[in-house]
Amino acid sequence: MSGSLLVEPVPRLVGHLAVPGDKSISHRAVLIGALCDGETRVSGFGRSADTEATIAAVRALGIEVYEHGAETLRVFGKGLRGLAAPSAAIDCGNAGTLVRLLAGILAGQSGQEFELTGDASLSARPMGRIAEPLGRMGAGVETTEGHLPMGILARTLSGIDYALPVASAQVKSAILLAGLYATGETTVVEPAPTRDHTERMLAAAGAGVMVRATSVTVSPAERLRLDEVEVPGDFSSAAPFLVAGTLVPGSELHVHGVNLNPRRTGLLEILERMGARITVYNRRAIGGEPAGDLEVASAPLVGTSVGAEEVPLAIDELPLVALAAACARGETVIRGAAELRAKETDRIEATVDALRALGVRARATEDGLTVTGVPARPRGGRMASRGDHRLAMLGAVAGLASREGVRIEDADAVTVSFPGFFEMLDELRRSSAVVEDDRR
Ligand code: S3P
Repeated sequence: MSGSLLVEPVPRLVGHLAVPGDKSISHRAVLIGALCDGETRVSGFGRSADTEATIAAVRALGIEVYEHGAETLRVFGKGLRGLAAPSAAIDCGNAGTLVRLLAGILAGQSGQEFELTGDASLSARPMGRIAEPLGRMGAGVETTEGHLPMGILARTLSGIDYALPVASAQVKSAILLAGLYATGETTVVEPAPTRDHTERMLAAAGAGVMVRATSVTVSPAERLRLDEVEVPGDFSSAAPFLVAGTLVPGSELHVHGVNLNPRRTGLLEILERMGARITVYNRRAIGGEPAGDLEVASAPLVGTSVGAEEVPLAIDELPLVALAAACARGETVIRGAAELRAKETDRIEATVDALRALGVRARATEDGLTVTGVPARPRGGRMASRGDHRLAMLGAVAGLASREGVRIEDADAVTVSFPGFFEMLDELRRSSAVVEDDRR
């Protein structure tokens, strides 16, 4: 990806937004829809490079997907065992969720062989964490020294009891999906709770799913049926606006129809602890998930500490927490977050480098980072997204809140999860300026 973009400071942010459909749920709707008997209609689909890779993957496996505009899909599932191995490798692009969940599904397509590949970033991420449990269940999974390309030879699977060595919803989901095909029950024990979209959607599709405080058990399934999935707005895409609205003085923003699954919204608790003013209203359910509208007003922040238990609940938002910390009074320490090193980039190093480039005092530790905040607008400057969408969005929020603006290298990395991000920001900047005029 290429192209640098300057995000200039904004005097205030005022307005109403709706962000695209949740990426995690969109991936699952297509993947689980492909395993259902008959049609699944997906509305509010979060279209992005990642979720388009998932559509392409199921198509390569013989599943028809009709697209009606950007946000509505019809997925014509062929049942749990209806996928057909393509002659070529399946390219998972940049999408960790796709490669991990799909590996679990393919492990159950008995007698068939598959190959999964991805882009340079995905190929640098660990795959041993799924190869190991799927191998224990009986699949033949061969990685390239723990990475992609990965070959999967599907065999008859047996259920396992598996304690996850790292808190990862992707690994948990891969095992649960493979468990649908196993003889006997499959139980996954989590070191800390992670997002449970797979469990919720499998239960909605009629699978036997038993959720306990620290574990989930899935029973072998005969058939699945979803019919409809309504995808709520992505909390992770709302997050940059929540942080921008908090940091830019005089702001008042509303983000509507956002997924508020408690295993996704750790950022709200962290920001509240720091002094943010974020209110949830119109709580409701969207597509079997908690959802609601959010109002954020700017507020002065104080530093905080974030520990291992909280990390999975805010895993994709931790770079933004670090940015908020840069503008807070005092020090913020994030610990127990070594998983950040296994994301699209090493997000500990990438975040610290980006913040330093913008004049912030930040330091990487083995399992997290420390930021010494100054309760004022950060200077700004030039930072690198390194092709990581979450880093590009961090740069944009920093630009809005900065004194001198931020030039983001590889800004178009945002297409991985939120292709219209900069357009939405521009629109917000324009509408905020109109409000500004009216107030004069
Ligand atoms: C995801 C789980 C998380 C998250 C990723 C999406 C998912 O990864 O970082 O963006 O959809 O299950 P891990 O489960 O590997 O932490």
